[in-house]
Amino acid sequence: MRHLIDPTDLTKEELNEIIDLALDIIANREKYSEVCKGKKLATLFYEPSTRTRLSFTAAMMELGGNVLGFADAKSSSVSKGETVADTVQVISCFADIIAMRHHEEGAALVAAMNSRIPVINAGDGSHSHPTQTLTDLLTIKREIGRFDNITIGFCGDLKFGRTVHSLIKALSRYEGVKVVLIAPEQLRLPDYMKHEVCDLNGIDYKEVETMEEVMPELDVLYMTRVQKERFFDEDEFERVKDSFILDPEKLKTARPHMRILHPLPRVNEITVEVDSDPRAAYFRQVENGKFVRMALMLRLLEWAKADNSKPDLVPADAIRGQHVCSNRRCISNIENGVEAIFRPSAEKDGAYRCLYCESRPK
Ligand code: CP
Repeated sequence: MRHLIDPTDLTKEELNEIIDLALDIIANREKYSEVCKGKKLATLFYEPSTRTRLSFTAAMMELGGNVLGFADAKSSSVSKGETVADTVQVISCFADIIAMRHHEEGAALVAAMNSRIPVINAGDGSHSHPTQTLTDLLTIKREIGRFDNITIGFCGDLKFGRTVHSLIKALSRYEGVKVVLIAPEQLRLPDYMKHEVCDLNGIDYKEVETMEEVMPELDVLYMTRVQKERFFDEDEFERVKDSFILDPEKLKTARPHMRILHPLPRVNEITVEVDSDPRAAYFRQVENGKFVRMALMLRLLEWAKADNSKPDLVPADAIRGQHVCSNRRCISNIENGVEAIFRPSAEKDGAYRCLYCESRPK
């Protein structure tokens, strides 16, 4: 049995296979209309969502299956104190596959460790959002035609933007990708992303102050919302919330083939005047999310049918119980019964990273 907790759970070949399957689904909708007949998706959403939850729901319905779950954890026994571990053990009795969103970083991994059915991470705090990444890849494929040798600018909240982290990880599997990081000092990409993902995979990246200075270089401009809900300090949010606003004037130097992506929701970082520009791909991107989630669920259910054994999600060289995670939003610091586990850093510098959220120990 396989789960999707992080984009790196899929090999480059598997990523390509899922994108190709999504393209086939788009071209042959009828062919897939009953392939999940009798299957049930459980959507466990502990945090608000429009696109992800509803696209998972629409995806399973278009495959001929059914959907159960909750859109607000307060309406479930979570409000009585039930843990993620217990919840997924219960849901494993009712469904064939789980899509879970949670505000605690590492929650999806804890779910996978306790589940008898495949778990899909539909976003865990500011850590990871691998199905948005599949959506972004399908959009890049349909709009630009390739993943290799693209220059992509990430603009806005690169610190808390889980979609940015996941997409950079996935793109690190491709050749000749150039990444331009456009963010205020307070919202820069976390160090583990720069060192363990970009440096170790040879991603050519640079940090700049304005989108104007790099606009003519870009194949893709990936805009993001400043994630108000992740800030501990409201004054800090007020200082950075309007850092970057894309408008038609700023687009004047962009190339004709450049595409603007945004995981959405937007607040004010793209003015509505941009929506009518043919380079604005963010609403087409939303629809791609449904098709790619259809492809992903099909593959995970097929893999579970072929091998239903529980994968060991803790690497052999991990250490347990010796440290505490430095991230106060990590599930290991919040939920009872979640043991702190650390793996050696990919930089092989003798340091460790939290298995759940990739932060350093305290
Ligand atoms: N892109 C995305 O995750 O949107 P939702 O929060 O609406 O699911």
